Amino acid sequence: MASEDIFKNLVSHSKEYGFIFPSSEIYDGLGAVYDYGQNGVELKNNIKKYWWDSMVLLHENVVGLDSAIFMHPTIWKASGHVDAFNDPLIDNKDSKKRYRADVLIEDHMAKFDDKIAKEVEKAKKRFGADFDEVLYMNTNPRIQEYKSQKEAIHQRYAKALNDGDLAELKKMIEDLEIVCPISGTRNWTEVRQFNLMFSTEMGSTSEGSMKVYLRPETAQGIFVNFLNIQKTGRMKIPFGIAQIGKAFRNEIVARQFIFRMREFEQMEMQFFVRPGEEMEWFKRWKAFRMKWHQSLGFPASKYRFHDHDKLAHYANAATDIEFEMPFGFKEVEGIHSRTDFDLSSHEKFSGKKMQYFDPELNKSYIPYVIETSIGVDRMFLSVLAGSYCEEALEGGGSRVVLKIPAFLAPVKLAVLPLVKKDGLPEIARRIMDDLKFEFGCQYDEKDSIGKRYRRQDAIGTPYCITVDHQSAEDGTVTVRERDTMHQERIPIEKIGRLVENKIGYKKLLQSL
Ligand code: GAP
Repeated sequence: MASEDIFKNLVSHSKEYGFIFPSSEIYDGLGAVYDYGQNGVELKNNIKKYWWDSMVLLHENVVGLDSAIFMHPTIWKASGHVDAFNDPLIDNKDSKKRYRADVLIEDHMAKFDDKIAKEVEKAKKRFGADFDEVLYMNTNPRIQEYKSQKEAIHQRYAKALNDGDLAELKKMIEDLEIVCPISGTRNWTEVRQFNLMFSTEMGSTSEGSMKVYLRPETAQGIFVNFLNIQKTGRMKIPFGIAQIGKAFRNEIVARQFIFRMREFEQMEMQFFVRPGEEMEWFKRWKAFRMKWHQSLGFPASKYRFHDHDKLAHYANAATDIEFEMPFGFKEVEGIHSRTDFDLSSHEKFSGKKMQYFDPELNKSYIPYVIETSIGVDRMFLSVLAGSYCEEALEGGGSRVVLKIPAFLAPVKLAVLPLVKKDGLPEIARRIMDDLKFEFGCQYDEKDSIGKRYRRQDAIGTPYCITVDHQSAEDGTVTVRERDTMHQERIPIEKIGRLVENKIGYKKLLQSL
């Protein structure tokens, strides 16, 4: 099935099974804002918990924070967001649709990758078992031509971005003959900068109100609390502060479901280090974060690093961890070496010292910072996309199964009485009551057992147990495993341990 079709199916599946709903749906929705349903909120909470445990529990020198969404407006001046948190936008005069100029060019460049992939596919079929993909990629003239065309565009693009040259971006869109996907025309406006921060008023007008911003990143809450935590926690450099919370951006082009939202959630960690040691820590966190992603068990080929062409105003090194979504490789997490930009700037704007006294060096300095910043919603989408399978079954029929890593699954165990009589519901209820405080359990007695299995597959429940007449006789149940659909009988008292073993992630944390 084409990946666009898989993506469409995934989006409707998420709605049908209570993962994600469009916000304000009865009022026709609100652009790029989504609500998480009964299964979505569980999966989201599990993702957040795994991140928190792997950052805060695992690292003794990383502690948490929960700072407010509203902050003093000068913070956003100091951070550079008021002046520089912009995207280059361009409108198509015929369709009246608005686009990000950089995204139009990046999408154009991605077409060369598609062309190369198609050439490789064709060659694979032609040469069969003898096919040497690496050799072919390095020698085939058509592929070489695509690569060099893409590289030329890439160089021009990177220069235009780094120079902030909006006229050049427009010229590139014209030269590359990029058309509006809606109108099909090249009738473009000039490229303009657009600030992504939402603002509102704080305080009543009688006492004089103040313009405040909805934070576009959680990081600044960490910077302005850096000394509070360092002093009260007696933290010694190097140390980190982690935080999970909402962020808001007035995205120009909101599309691809929960990939680009106007209200979203971030899991960020700022790691404070000695000046001069930042590149070493950048490398370490880069490797650690990739390991974290790969610990979920999806194929390693689904992940890659993408180093930034244009560094943000605060960074001296930056990379993205990308995941292969149904619409291509996309950024899920950013790892940035933010230098001492933020703390120095807050020192300047607030007039308060943001320095750390290093007892080992016997001197004070403003620490350098390595940031790891991951979007909860993008992580959620990557888990859904990596887990979603449409499978044909032996003997006909099919199923949709979410092969979500067991410890992230919204429901861990479904308890299913075979029939609604003969005392089976009572036994099932007793099992529920015994286990429901240990992990998420769901009781279901409606419809045939096959339909109930399908419902649990569709939300990714790792285990279903069926209580049948034999259970009443010998205290055993049938347990069915989601991915293999393998079934076996086990004693009721062993269910808890079986599920615990599958969903515990202590070993995973230890392996990071
Ligand atoms: N503090 C640094 C920072 O915010 P970023 O690369 O702009 O860096 C970090 O954002 C992560 O936040 C991204 O990798 C992405 O996962 C998530 N993110 C950013 N904008 C988003 C949006 N509009 N919708 C959903 N997630 C977003």
